[in-house]
Amino acid sequence: MGDRRPVIAGNWKMYKTGKEAVEFIDDLNELIAGVMDVEIVVAPPFTALPLVAKRIKGGPVRLAAQDLHWEPEGAYTGEISPKMLLDAGCSHVIVGHSERREYFGDTNAIVSRKIKAALAENLIPVFCIGESLEEREAEKTFSVLDKQMSEGLETIDSNDVKKIIIAYEPVWAIGTGRTASNEQAQEVHSFIRRYLTDRHGEEVGNIVRILYGGSVKPENIAGLMAAADIDGALVGGASLTASVFARIVNFPYLL
Ligand code: PGA
Repeated sequence: MGDRRPVIAGNWKMYKTGKEAVEFIDDLNELIAGVMDVEIVVAPPFTALPLVAKRIKGGPVRLAAQDLHWEPEGAYTGEISPKMLLDAGCSHVIVGHSERREYFGDTNAIVSRKIKAALAENLIPVFCIGESLEEREAEKTFSVLDKQMSEGLETIDSNDVKKIIIAYEPVWAIGTGRTASNEQAQEVHSFIRRYLTDRHGEEVGNIVRILYGGSVKPENIAGLMAAADIDGALVGGASLTASVFARIVNFPYLL
């Protein structure tokens, strides 16, 4: 992990009403009371953001949205702008999640615009990349990731790349219960870090946190976190229950 502060982020996807979200946060706040040196982020659906923002005020939990539009405002029915996310209390935003790429047409070019728009408002993008099973089996993992990073970060200045959090999420490991092994994940994370160092310089390579995502649970977090280039996790299913998510956040005590 080096000097990089670990991040544990929960992606709630399309789960939880406002009431359920508030109950979750009240439970979580108690369960993480003693946790130090871990950046804790939750990403509720849009409708719960302001309610959660109120509940986490003054505490260690940070708020992320799951997506954003790249324009500050305009005639884009159904969309949410970076400014609106700030207004709702967000500090982070997930960009390019594989479900957005698969079901909602988010291409690398769109992802790039979204990253730029988030950074322009000082929102920290959690930039998701990852290969499908087919791509892994065809030994295209590294070329797919290279393309996702080079196109996704194409117009982003190295000084801004520094602020981004990257989440490596192999699509075949998301929601399947099939986690990448610690070695498989570390191999890819070190590739990503090398890419950042080569393209954006040593400082960027050293600073950027690279999270692993895909069936992370309390049982496998400690092993993943022990890997040199894994700086945290983006957690889906296991982030929906406060007691389970809190066990992941408490990973330093499992090491
Ligand atoms: P999962 O989802 O933990 O349920 O596999 C991870 C994600 O989609 O971010």
